[in-house]
Amino acid sequence: MCGIVGYVGRSEAAPILLDGLRRLEYRGYDSAGVAIVDGDHIGTRKCAGRIASLAKLMSEKPLSGSYGIGHTRWATHGKVTDENAHPHFDASGKIALIHNGVIENYQALKDQLAVDGDDQFTSETDTEVLAHLIGNIYRQLDGKDSKARLVNAVRAALKQVIGTYGIAVLHSDIPDFMVGARRGSPLVLGVGKDENFLASDVGAIVAYTRDAVYLNDFDVVAVERDKFEISSLAGEIGDRQVSKVEFTAEDIKKGDYPHYMLKEIFEQPATVRDAMRGRLSLEECTAKLGGLNMTPAQLREVGRVVLTGCGTALHAAMVGEYLIEQLANVPTEVEYASEFRHRNTPMTPDTLVFAISQSGETADTLGALRESRRKGYRTLGICNNVASTIARESDGGVYMHAGPEIGVAATKSFTSQLVILTLIGLLLGRMRSLSTAEGSRIIEALEALPKQIEEVLKLSDEIKAIAKKYADVNGVLFFGRQFNFPIALEGALKMKEITYLFAEGHPSAELKHGIIALVRPDLPSVFIAPDDGVFSKNVNNIEQVKARKGPIIALTSGNGAKKLKGIANDIIEIPDVPDCVSPILTVIPLQLLAYHLAVELGRDVDKPRNLAKSVTVE
Ligand code: F6R
Repeated sequence: MCGIVGYVGRSEAAPILLDGLRRLEYRGYDSAGVAIVDGDHIGTRKCAGRIASLAKLMSEKPLSGSYGIGHTRWATHGKVTDENAHPHFDASGKIALIHNGVIENYQALKDQLAVDGDDQFTSETDTEVLAHLIGNIYRQLDGKDSKARLVNAVRAALKQVIGTYGIAVLHSDIPDFMVGARRGSPLVLGVGKDENFLASDVGAIVAYTRDAVYLNDFDVVAVERDKFEISSLAGEIGDRQVSKVEFTAEDIKKGDYPHYMLKEIFEQPATVRDAMRGRLSLEECTAKLGGLNMTPAQLREVGRVVLTGCGTALHAAMVGEYLIEQLANVPTEVEYASEFRHRNTPMTPDTLVFAISQSGETADTLGALRESRRKGYRTLGICNNVASTIARESDGGVYMHAGPEIGVAATKSFTSQLVILTLIGLLLGRMRSLSTAEGSRIIEALEALPKQIEEVLKLSDEIKAIAKKYADVNGVLFFGRQFNFPIALEGALKMKEITYLFAEGHPSAELKHGIIALVRPDLPSVFIAPDDGVFSKNVNNIEQVKARKGPIIALTSGNGAKKLKGIANDIIEIPDVPDCVSPILTVIPLQLLAYHLAVELGRDVDKPRNLAKSVTVE
């Protein structure tokens, strides 16, 4: 949420900042801006709208200089206007600041600044208050070393802040120098040759350097062209390891696809394979998950599992509940991370908590992880971003290895999460009552998935035709049972996010308890009804909708199509698979349906209205 990029080096900063912002645009895209220092003059350009608008502005009024900062915003405090776009300045106009996060006590800080007569603000943002506070403290500090003075001012200001921040700050009188700091919002230092970078996401700078230092909460970093120094908020100098970024700039290109979302949907045969690569033991008919950092004895002692996350990751957790209970018979609960972190859920000491997050930076999931660890529960992460805060702060976990996910609507990360949860169910199950025969059946089913996903992806044109047919509907209902109930929720979430149509997901049987009142000819119902143990029950519900003239799109397998012919208006046929891996296939046509309908409606698929990838605010 919000993207930050900073540069200090020998090249022109403007193209590097703009390039970084374009790569970060998926993190927030309602306004953008840069500040670049040339000599002792600080130039700024900012405007509401996309990076393309900023680029146009900068081509009309170019900025020169070899150090600067840039920001793409997802509004928290203050409307989407030119004035509220970052960077923001202190009262002297010499200190520029960009910020990702929320300053919760900004009003109290503003009141305090007003006492000093520092009360002229040009925006409605919490960020501008922080810029003024840093400037106010800077002016009061003594010392000839202006670099140390700026770092100390940043530290002193941040000590007064309640809230979250990832920031980059520069001063027009201090050449080739910037300061970064983080608490709760990610910040990475890119280490180059005679140039250094700051970014909220390493993807912004990976085209320039693959050497990175992932900053921790309460780190403050002073960045120069040829060196950097990391210290704590208290001023203690710290040592940090420089790590190699595991992907390249090539990996975050769209290639021939019109949208990242479509590219990522089509990557799923490979990402599903990568999620299980090296993690299956054919001899023992189980999964090998060394990253959990738990001995077999400890795994055997697990008496309860809690799965937590937000949005799509929460839907994966809901499938996980069915999986772990069915395969391992271990009581499993799903908790919204945003609720879990603030309530006192009764848990036994043998509870194992999993925080599921593609980005590994989602504020609520991170909050849930920290709360769970604070209370002494072993807490593991299921993350895609290996350098993320959740990955670093958990007691262990399993990486998705899905590669960067740029489309704002999560797709490939979801199926990777499902594979991993199946592996966890398999591992816990085989230590309990799951037989070798069952274990090997699940392994076979998992190994067959990449090819079956390829089959499902071949349906893209067929699904596109269905999407065209329903382009003028007022909404879509989604229904499923058992493992496919969470898929109904996920199908509805994808539909809402990128088409802006009203969409709801429900367990099929709930239909008659109220939802049936919505059924009408301009509201199609998508039934996820593979030919499994609850197929006939789904057919009953389909008939109920049909009787009330509701159009039906049925997603089915095996003999399902034959039985649904003449009942469903449209039938999407997918391969028949064991019920526990079925969601990994059934979700894909729903991703495609949402995608094609969104394209048909002319929506901005990769940057849907009001959304942003990686929600680092609460
Ligand atoms: C939906 C979507 C969001 C995320 C949610 C959690 O398409 O992208 O609902 O799933 O914000 O994000 P992560 O997995 O990064 O914690």
